[in-house]
Amino acid sequence: MQVIFSENLPADARLVAYVVDKGALPDGLEKPLADGAGAARFKGNAGQLFEGFVERDGKVVRVAIAGAGAADAEDRSARLEKAGAALTAKYLTSGEKQIALDMRGSNLSGDELASVLLGLRLRGWRHDAYRTKLKEEQKKTLEAVTVVGAPEGAEAEWSTQAAVAEGVEFTRTLIAEPANKLYPVSFVEKCRAAFEGTGAELTVLDEEQMEELGMHALLGVGLGSEQPSRLLAITWNGGGDGKPTAFVGKGVTFDTGGISLKPGPGMWDMKWDMGGAGAVAGAMLALVKRKAKANLVAVLGLVENMPDGKAQRPGDIVTSMSGQTIEVLNTDAEGRLVLCDALHWVQEEHKPARIVDFATLTGAMLIALGHEHAGVFSNDDDLAEQLLAAGKASGDKLWRMPLAPAYDKLLDSPICDMKNIGPREAGSITAAQFLQRFIKDGTPWAHCDIAGTVWSDKPGATWDKGATGYGARLIDRFVRDNLEG
Ligand code: BES
Ligand code: MN
Ligand code: ZN
Repeated sequence: MQVIFSENLPADARLVAYVVDKGALPDGLEKPLADGAGAARFKGNAGQLFEGFVERDGKVVRVAIAGAGAADAEDRSARLEKAGAALTAKYLTSGEKQIALDMRGSNLSGDELASVLLGLRLRGWRHDAYRTKLKEEQKKTLEAVTVVGAPEGAEAEWSTQAAVAEGVEFTRTLIAEPANKLYPVSFVEKCRAAFEGTGAELTVLDEEQMEELGMHALLGVGLGSEQPSRLLAITWNGGGDGKPTAFVGKGVTFDTGGISLKPGPGMWDMKWDMGGAGAVAGAMLALVKRKAKANLVAVLGLVENMPDGKAQRPGDIVTSMSGQTIEVLNTDAEGRLVLCDALHWVQEEHKPARIVDFATLTGAMLIALGHEHAGVFSNDDDLAEQLLAAGKASGDKLWRMPLAPAYDKLLDSPICDMKNIGPREAGSITAAQFLQRFIKDGTPWAHCDIAGTVWSDKPGATWDKGATGYGARLIDRFVRDNLEG
């Protein structure tokens, strides 16, 4: 979706939109529309939309009024996004190519308008690459929004938010791609293309290099796959010479469960088991495109988990890069095996000031929190608070979950350092405890289990059904509020 700023209403504008606060209507609105809005019980609630037709200068104009809710709402920006998204949801395939968003007479500030535009753009993302038989009326028609009479500073605010939108869209595209198209090597290629010319540096470790480093936990997961594993690091030095903040993502491009094979129904969902890596990659793209003033490193563990004659077996013991040994009792608990080597590597290689990892790690997370919140586990209260706040502000909501030695104990193995699974109970917590065993003392670390928030079976505030892009905005907001300036 193209965003154009203009002082005047385009002469050919057929669809004119307004965004209003709760209880308000645009200044000077024609009586039929004002009465119509009342009759339709339009209240200006966030995401509410009223549409009417009116004659202006001898032409029939389609008028849309989107509600942004109360001006003093705590989650004002999320509500403004809803207003923008409501416009897109209504007109994306309507035949209209342009929306003229009339801001003359509006009291929205520049950053409020940018929120509207962000919602408008995000709700318009679709992955139509594989559809060859779309009917005319199913095709996306909306191409651009012309903002008329934008407030001071809106263009600069939008250029920041446009970078965020690009990042979210990259996350969604990675997640939507099926596993025959997106595997470790093609994941890296897509990142190379996306980050080309941005100033970010990409480092790729192949299997031989990982073997040399002793990453047998990560490599063990990929043994059954024809697709070679990769570790991708993306570094961005945007702010002085302080230690970097590390973001680590689980990038299992398909998770069959391996020899501990998953049941068939629903297995297709496991194409988005790279959602953590997708979130981190998209966030980095946003941060790099808006030239974030922070030192950052992203590490993505990219592996496919398949059953095969060469696959690892339940009961196999692997030595991780840290030297700690792991009894792989369930080959379907593979995400933690990928992450433990990625986490150890980033600490050795980059000595980060703090680490946040993202992973579709456990089905138990979905059972605990459903699709509303992802779970955050942390050894550091300040870091946890910062992430929770970023979650609230960005709409990518988090809920804190516990860590404790009593849970950690459940991973002790009778034959080596640890098992890769605990009992059925507290499955998300023991998974987090497993990861914590690879965090060096004194390093603030948080783990976000995003298994329930990556994919949606129904449209949400700023997404259609499918890939939500969860995590990209959370990370962007966390960096903005805590690491920059
Ligand atoms: N990728 C799955 C977790 C998952 C399940 C994410 C459903 C999204 C939706 C993960 O690799 C997995 O299989 N976890 C197992 C762990 C168990 C074997 C201890 C699980 O949750 O069942
Ligand atoms: Mn699994
Ligand atoms: Zn998995």
